[in-house]
Amino acid sequence: MAREKWGSKLGIILAVAGSAIGLGNFLRFPVQAARNGGGAFMIPYFIALLLLGLPLIWVEWTIGRFGGGFGHSTAPGMFHSMWEKNKFIKYFGVIGIFGPIVIFVYYIYIESWLLGYSFFALFGKYNACTTRETMTAFLRGYQGLAQNEHFSGIAPAYLFYLAAFAINIFIIWFGVSKGIERACEWALPILFIFAVVLAVRVLTLGSPDPAKPENNVINGLGYLWNPQWAKLTNAKVWLAAAGQIFFTLSCGIGVILTYASYLRKQDDVALSGLTAAGTNELAEVILGGSIVIPAAFVFFGPTEIGKIAAAGPFDLGFVTMPLVLQKMVFGNILGFMWFMLLFLAGITSSISLAQPAVAFLEDEFNLSKKKASMVLAGVTFALTQPAIFFIGNGVVDELDFWGGTFCLVLFGTIEAILFAWVFGMERAWTEMHAGSDITIPRVYRFIIKYITPVFLLLVLGFWFYQEGIDFILLKGAEKGNIPYIIATRLMLVVFFVVLSYMVWRAWKRRATPTTGVGANQYNQSNVGRGNQ
Ligand code: PFF
Repeated sequence: MAREKWGSKLGIILAVAGSAIGLGNFLRFPVQAARNGGGAFMIPYFIALLLLGLPLIWVEWTIGRFGGGFGHSTAPGMFHSMWEKNKFIKYFGVIGIFGPIVIFVYYIYIESWLLGYSFFALFGKYNACTTRETMTAFLRGYQGLAQNEHFSGIAPAYLFYLAAFAINIFIIWFGVSKGIERACEWALPILFIFAVVLAVRVLTLGSPDPAKPENNVINGLGYLWNPQWAKLTNAKVWLAAAGQIFFTLSCGIGVILTYASYLRKQDDVALSGLTAAGTNELAEVILGGSIVIPAAFVFFGPTEIGKIAAAGPFDLGFVTMPLVLQKMVFGNILGFMWFMLLFLAGITSSISLAQPAVAFLEDEFNLSKKKASMVLAGVTFALTQPAIFFIGNGVVDELDFWGGTFCLVLFGTIEAILFAWVFGMERAWTEMHAGSDITIPRVYRFIIKYITPVFLLLVLGFWFYQEGIDFILLKGAEKGNIPYIIATRLMLVVFFVVLSYMVWRAWKRRATPTTGVGANQYNQSNVGRGNQ
């Protein structure tokens, strides 16, 4: 089977930027910044970008293109190609399929709320909710957590979930260049236009209450950006910044590996990776920082805003923003733009999360693209059900912890060490620059070899000590939720074991001469690789 390829250089850049630009940019980032020191948060944030994010981006693009040369689009095969003497390394690669699916199954459900809310905004369905309490009741009714005058069951949420799910599978079904690339070519420009319109609208807001002129945009921006230096000595702030960089860049999880595997061997990775990351940062820091927090500040003022930021990203997105936008002229249209912007940002991220599993089935089990998409649909559909029906019992938080935090940092650490120390920095550097449009500053040789792995090990260690252990031991979990949390963990363990077994099977099959990776693919490989 011929391997798929991207249609153009812009295509893959948009696809990777599309994966990176997501709910994380518009909701998670402003909340993290507001909670962790405002402008001061940007110092650890940019340090993490330069010392963790960018190096990992280059590492992942390079490993991905390298693995693609061996006919592998996912981490088990890629890791094996980089360290062929080691029998176990491919099982670490399982995280690069497992992690994205775990994120996918809850991310897609939240994405479907955005589709629902786009319609609700357009048709004024929540117009009667004018206070935080009533808007929260609307959200809880929609999620099936309460029965009220707005919703009497979960049916509407379920229908929107089915629609969002179908759209994702439809895009994946069409494959890399006809599905993912095309979807991103459409979605990203629309998303940017909507974000710019909303940011301009927010930044030109006058203060709505003449008695409180201090509730204005400048003070709103000040709330987000004025540095609180004292927070910088708190390790938690550094962890939050590193976590945000991982999440927003979609790195440390395996999706960039898969996307980059569809490159040709002489395609540039250094400049393309940098461009995609830069586009994400523009969307995050400039646009993501100019919408929710300043808007909420103008309408709710300095005392309320602290509570709003503390209530978290969902509250900000689904309660505060609709309330704020309703108060503006053309509120319904602006509301539609807000939710549609997030929905599009969500879709271009969720398809990237689904692709590693599809690629794994195609490459290692010779399934056709369509069959692989159907298997993915069946498995993820089943795995999402607990997230939908037991959202009130901590299931989504559990999936987010393992998929969106733990796997990211762990997998990123494995990749960085494997690349710089096992594969070897000399080979790694040559491979990074094969076909490159830019020369990466030499200081990055040092950073990738020493600083990134050490920084990652520190983050992993601190995070495990400060939050991980308590979470794993269920400290602070509500008593009633514990059975659900344990059931979710069991489900994840079973899923991980099944994937590992599949890797074992695939390699066993490969050992027989007729089904191995052909000499052709081997010869197409890039510089400096070892034996398969
Ligand atoms: N980067 C996405 C966001 O900012 O919302 C989330 C994400 C997508 C994380 C894909 C990880 C990933 F592999």
